Amino acid sequence: MKKAKSPVTPGNIQTKQSIGSSEPVVNSSRRRALLAGLGAAGGAAAAGLIAPARAMADPANLPPNVADWSRVLGPGVDAYPYGMPSKFEKTVVRRNVEWLTATPESSINFTPLYALDGIVTPNGLCFERHHGGAAEVIPEDYRLMINGLVDRPLIFTLDDLKRFPPVSRFHFLECAANGGMEWRGAQLNGVQFTHGMIHCVQYTGVSLRTLLEEAGVKPKAKWLLVEGGDSAGMNRTLPLDKALDDCMIAYSMNGERLRTEQGYPARLVVPGFEGNMWVKWIRRIEVGDGAYMAREETSKYTDLMPDGRSRRFTWEMDCKSVITSPCPELPCRKKGPQVIKGLAWSGRGKIARVDVTVDGGRNWHQARLEDPIMSKCLTRFYLDGWEWNGDTAYLQSRAIDETGYVQPEMAALQAVRGVNSVYHNNAIQTWRINPTGEVENVRLA
Ligand code: MTE
Ligand code: CO
Repeated sequence: MKKAKSPVTPGNIQTKQSIGSSEPVVNSSRRRALLAGLGAAGGAAAAGLIAPARAMADPANLPPNVADWSRVLGPGVDAYPYGMPSKFEKTVVRRNVEWLTATPESSINFTPLYALDGIVTPNGLCFERHHGGAAEVIPEDYRLMINGLVDRPLIFTLDDLKRFPPVSRFHFLECAANGGMEWRGAQLNGVQFTHGMIHCVQYTGVSLRTLLEEAGVKPKAKWLLVEGGDSAGMNRTLPLDKALDDCMIAYSMNGERLRTEQGYPARLVVPGFEGNMWVKWIRRIEVGDGAYMAREETSKYTDLMPDGRSRRFTWEMDCKSVITSPCPELPCRKKGPQVIKGLAWSGRGKIARVDVTVDGGRNWHQARLEDPIMSKCLTRFYLDGWEWNGDTAYLQSRAIDETGYVQPEMAALQAVRGVNSVYHNNAIQTWRINPTGEVENVRLA
């Protein structure tokens, strides 16, 4: 087993990343601002980022007394025609880091992974990434056009799409920039910010193969241009093989219609591929015989390598995992038994195994994977029964997918990719538990 080396503390964070990117980039002084403003360990609860330890319970509500809420009638049905989470859960929200981007219209926020159980992200908590704000598409006016190398160019209404045999599947969507701020050192002190550019829902829609067969793809077709109806008109190239394999035009998520932010009334679902390709408010699919070399796959969403060349078409999201509890937002409040909880995923299929260490990699323990374990979907894992004795501990998780791919350490990733990358950081994450129980994002160097 490898030996853990001395950790880099937040005070030793490497200098600012100055990579031209359409995705947010953070520097170390900014991190300090985040620590001060949103609060890392210590000030965090006061700043409202972390649910504070419950205030002392009111003895009047405790057994054997009859609690206040048991003495009155509650609100009747229809008090809330669309139900909302309990008011006591109001800190569980998407969060952005305002100074990451110049405007909120071209920006990103983050899923509160620390607050979620299971594998499904509630619709209202799915992170948002917009290049030109969220389009308000009127469903009656919505159209999806298929043109180019097809026998019959077609235009579908939303009702047309819903008349095809539906398919429903669970998939994660991860932005290629997830963890992009962490390449050069530990930067953001919260799993919401280090790993929160991901969500996982059940999509319902029509398979893209069905629509392409309806249009009749010509034999020399190889690529698609998929184009959004937002003000950014965001577009990407998609290989035809993938389109015919498992892509879908989704109109529902978690059983209800897509949220505006997620592309209402229809978005492209590209299982296992980087989030940027999942075009929202999709309005057009052009079938062609060559890659389109759109902005989002040439100047952006490529990885600058140490030799000055760039990796292109890095579509598949590599196998990755993270511990979601404990984490900076969920400190260890008590010594004694702890359940370590986390999420693992792979763009290449199912998760086969997750290992967890509490001593920075000296010893690894196989985690318990919870059913269902689905392809290109989040998988929940637990390590039960770890006794925390109050000493400093270094927690990591390492996922392995069904292809045998093992999630790498950052040093191994950097040996191949250098430090110029923004995208596709799937390195092992380290949380340090301090003797106070506070948890910090650190890098084992
Ligand atoms: N589609 C359109 N039309 N416009 C966009 O700005 N952003 C992309 C992709 N599809 C985007 C888009 C990026 S970079 C990501 S990571 C995902 O949508 C984010 O999807 P979400 O907002 O549902 O989380
Ligand atoms: Co993205």
